[in-house]
Amino acid sequence: MRKHVKGNISWVGFIDWELETFHGDDYSIKNGSSQNAYLIEEEKNILIDTVWVPHRFEFVENLKTEIELRRIDAIVVNHGECDHSGSLTTLLKEIPDVLIYCTANAVKSIEGQYGKHGWNFRVVKTGDTLDIGNGKQLVFVEMPMLHWPDSMATWMTGDNILFSMDAFGQHYAVEELFNDKADQCLLMREAMKYFANILNPFAPLVTRKLAEIGKLNLPIEMIAPAHGAIWRSNPLQIVEKYAQWADAYQEDQVTVAYDTMWEGTTRIAHQIATEIHNQSPNTVVKVFNVAKADKNEVMTEVFKSRAIAVGSPTACRDILSSVAGWLAFLKTLQFKGKKAAAFGCYGWSGESVKILQSRLAEAGFAVVDENIRSLWNPGEDDLAKVPELVRALLA
Ligand code: FEO
Repeated sequence: MRKHVKGNISWVGFIDWELETFHGDDYSIKNGSSQNAYLIEEEKNILIDTVWVPHRFEFVENLKTEIELRRIDAIVVNHGECDHSGSLTTLLKEIPDVLIYCTANAVKSIEGQYGKHGWNFRVVKTGDTLDIGNGKQLVFVEMPMLHWPDSMATWMTGDNILFSMDAFGQHYAVEELFNDKADQCLLMREAMKYFANILNPFAPLVTRKLAEIGKLNLPIEMIAPAHGAIWRSNPLQIVEKYAQWADAYQEDQVTVAYDTMWEGTTRIAHQIATEIHNQSPNTVVKVFNVAKADKNEVMTEVFKSRAIAVGSPTACRDILSSVAGWLAFLKTLQFKGKKAAAFGCYGWSGESVKILQSRLAEAGFAVVDENIRSLWNPGEDDLAKVPELVRALLA
């Protein structure tokens, strides 16, 4: 089951073709995923990470067919989240004294999740090294908040491969393992979705960390993340993408997101979309009913957008719960440099537009004053305001 990666490095992870959601149900998986673990067999044998709890028995049994477990000199735990540390309990029943290299925070997260077993932790900091023989070293680089406080990456000299943990990963199953074998559109789409939905809140840290790694002038030949394809062909392409994505990324796109009760708010949404195209034919327009659309896919479109328009009718002096939940998620992602407008129908009290504007501002958007607030159904007077709203959004 091992797959050759480079030199004496093998992939020994788990490809999860059937996975449908991640982080509970908070992240949708459309194209499978993988938990990547790597076995380095130099003078010392090093396991980089493990796989998720449900696959732990299969992982350990497979690993036994590749190497006598007692010959593993150390495990590097780049990150304590259970999709990567989830096989440790099973594995360490067999080799309880094995050395575990990880950050101080990873000790906390591992012991917090699995209990204190007296495991043989070796706490490392940025710049610490581990000689693995044959003139090669592992160099540890702390990556706090990318995306947990315990995260780190491991650089292997000689083969010049960066085990980057979640960074540069994708929830995307690639049986052939490498980026040059993957569907290029899907690969970049999944990498962007991963960044937008998981890493964007920490974008300023991504920028700083990329600058720090850039100063090291590492001769990166391969980037091996913890999920999805390994970047073998032009590995720096994903580093360049991350630099762009972390810098208040936007394309010439506007996304309209709404929910509706009796289709009035839908009509406004569609009119806004049509008007965006009228005013700016090259601008990409996307429209989603957030009660029905996949929120992670919609957020990826928001990530790409320079502006959004968000609509909800008023219900019980508030906005619809579908839109409220969507806005709560939007706020956590901390998008920067984007405009927003609000719209919605009402029958009685009519608070939705003000509430939408307030929540969009809290989510970090520059909210334009122009809005569409329609009594019962949008009439000609209401729709006549759409061009003004769109002009403000596109300005
Ligand atoms: Fe893939 Fe943060 O774990």
